[in-house]
Amino acid sequence: MTMTSQIVGCGAYLPERVVDNDELSKRVDTTNEWIFSRTGIRERRIAADGELTSDLAFEASKKALESAGIGADEVDLIVLGTTTPDKTFPATATAVQRMLGLKNGAAFDVQAVCSGFIYSLAVADNFVKAGQARTALVIGAETFSRILDWEDRATCVLFGDGAGAVVLRGSEAEAAGPDGHGRNSARGILSTHLHSDGRYSDLLYVDGGPSSTRTVGHVRMRGREVFRHAVSNLSAVIEEALDANGMQSSDIDWVVPHQANKRILDATVRKLGLPPERVVTTLERHANTSAASVPLALDEAVRDGRVQPGNLVLLEAMGGGFTWGACLIRW
Ligand code: COA
Repeated sequence: MTMTSQIVGCGAYLPERVVDNDELSKRVDTTNEWIFSRTGIRERRIAADGELTSDLAFEASKKALESAGIGADEVDLIVLGTTTPDKTFPATATAVQRMLGLKNGAAFDVQAVCSGFIYSLAVADNFVKAGQARTALVIGAETFSRILDWEDRATCVLFGDGAGAVVLRGSEAEAAGPDGHGRNSARGILSTHLHSDGRYSDLLYVDGGPSSTRTVGHVRMRGREVFRHAVSNLSAVIEEALDANGMQSSDIDWVVPHQANKRILDATVRKLGLPPERVVTTLERHANTSAASVPLALDEAVRDGRVQPGNLVLLEAMGGGFTWGACLIRW
């Protein structure tokens, strides 16, 4: 018997307050036209004062459990991807655990910035497949607005707040062999692929932290260079995921990418020869919500019926570090 892990529920939560590009143009020297044409973003959600990353994560988690039809008491692992934790410690995952009324199992945060959800999913998938957890809550949650320099027009227009979550369930199943075309025919998470390269840490980072400046700091970015690396790293990791499963890009039903920039999404799928209508895009309304962007987009595509059982779904993301990764799922 081999353990498989399957996403059995999704949930999402966005703060109420919508800030559109016109509102931002009153704050910094920018225009709706500049932001939309360069990024594809029209608006973003911003958390209310006192609304914390754990609050967003808790709301998304409740919805994910509800859609899975699973009681919180069955959760024995919480992995939360975030770069904007409530506090330096304890982990925000433990706050979510408390809010869900749980005291058993393990809960911890994963810090991989915008790749945080893919990293968290890979960690939870490995726990489940190793038999160390059976029901995992995997969350991407951010209040990125708290680490933005609201005077820096090159960064503050790009990001937003939000949270998404999935419930990952392990089951013992016969490992499915290759299908008639030599492709992996198993259901659930087929494979995860993670990478990082710390040489590029100065292209996208926060200029503060407990050990260096003792402050929280603000996001700093060399946008053009990040853009270039994003397209080549993402294309490479997608090819890697497909190769590992004996598949081709034409096998993919849905790409659920990290929502950083419409031009990065377009360039990446063009490189792979994928039709743009196979790409789930929420960027226009959410902006870049860092670790939350992939589960927010996934939730939308599952709820509106685009993602159907049996579909091949590819998740991918890239973020500061650099970190990047992909996950291939047979839904
Ligand atoms: N409004 C108006 N002008 C702006 C602006 C804004 N919000 N932000 C920057 N500019 C200006 C710059 O000051 C610069 O002016 P200059 O030529 O007079 O110096 C000009 O626009 C071009 O700046 P540049 O940074 O070269 O633009 P770009 O075409 O590379 O677009 C990004 C900028 C940020 C949209 C683009 O580089 C990008 O999306 N990069 C990837 C970022 C990303 O996705 N990061 C997260 C990864 S997880």
